[in-house]
Amino acid sequence: MPHLHIKEFKAVTLPREVEGVHFDFIAKNLTKDDETLIAATVDGDSFFLVVKQDQKRVLLKTDKLTRPASITSVHKALLAYAKVAELEVLASNVIDRKNVHLGEATALKKIDFFAKSFPTDKEVRIEVGFGSGRHLLHQAANNPDILFIGIEIHRPSIEQVLKQAVIQELHNIMVLDYDARLFMELVPSNLVGAVYVHFPVPWDKKPHRRVISTAFIAECRRALKKGGTLELRTDSENYYAYSYQTFIASPKISLLINKNKDIAITSKYEDRWKKMQKNIYDIVMINDEVSDELSIEGDFTFESSSLTKEQLLRVHNKTERFDGGFIHFERVYELSQGFMIRISMGSFDRPEHLYVIVKDDGVKYYPELPLRSRSNLQAHQHLKEILHG
Ligand SMILES: C[S@@+](CC[C@H](N)C(=O)[O-])C[C@H]1O[C@@H](n2cnc3c(N)ncnc32)[C@H](O)[C@@H]1O
Repeated sequence: MPHLHIKEFKAVTLPREVEGVHFDFIAKNLTKDDETLIAATVDGDSFFLVVKQDQKRVLLKTDKLTRPASITSVHKALLAYAKVAELEVLASNVIDRKNVHLGEATALKKIDFFAKSFPTDKEVRIEVGFGSGRHLLHQAANNPDILFIGIEIHRPSIEQVLKQAVIQELHNIMVLDYDARLFMELVPSNLVGAVYVHFPVPWDKKPHRRVISTAFIAECRRALKKGGTLELRTDSENYYAYSYQTFIASPKISLLINKNKDIAITSKYEDRWKKMQKNIYDIVMINDEVSDELSIEGDFTFESSSLTKEQLLRVHNKTERFDGGFIHFERVYELSQGFMIRISMGSFDRPEHLYVIVKDDGVKYYPELPLRSRSNLQAHQHLKEILHG
């Protein structure tokens, strides 16, 4: 990830505009003095830079929760802040020019893009955790009339695929840096031709992090058109057995099972497992039904509030559980006027991490609203009750 290793951090008065970057405010962690956030906006995309301090180094880098769609925006913001605050940079991996291919990439979308207006003019196929992207790129090149949405949480893999999409001139790929389990909740019903989950992390010790779950299967069934498929491919016998049990527990289902079936393109993982002569298992779920349209009621507004520092510090580190989900108060920050909290909330297997700004003139999520999912709307109601009493 791009970062600057700096001698010491210096705060400057904000808001101000520097070389196309709007710096809005600084947020200081109230319970740990090793973290400061700087709110930046580049080309309408808002995110935080973060100053992290350990015994050895002070780093200025990008905050993992609010990453912008374009990596060049991060580079721009890091360099602009270093310049305006006259920081002494000891080392850097930030490039002062646009990466030729990444600069041209338009395939990376933010979750807001899909939340506001999901593309529905073509058949959609989704690949969850595309890794090196071999399968996603191969499919897109061979099916130019289908829109492929690749979802990944590993940034280097995302950048590799973005570059390849530019080099191969593929215009039918969209890439999203997001948890695929949450993403599936906003996909319109009866739209998707296929969902590919190839070699997911088995998470044997943390099963709640697995992609395949009862809820994920249900969302896929809803999003798949009649005859559409959810395709799991795994080298883990344990994950295969777990997935089979989870699929078969669904109320109505058609499954195809294969062992050591060859497919047109193999991923790096698959090549490795094949060399080790491991078995490869496929479970293909075929959706036989037309689902109801997606309908989710509610909004993410707050009532105005005058919360004090003491009240916010009192909820810090607290977890509120409710039927089907939770809210955890992770961090409290002080702004020049007001406060900000970082929370995780939603369902246990698909939580979202979010910032909420608390000022006398109002409370709001920053920089974006949570994903409009049932569990998030439910969590929001509980958050309102905790904040407003
Ligand atoms: C073992 S790799 C397999 C990559 C690729 N499908 C292949 O066959 O080579 C699993 C990938 O899934 C991604 N991943 C894990 N959980 C995810 C989630 N909830 N949403 C999106 N991607 C996820 C990981 O970052 C990783 O790149």
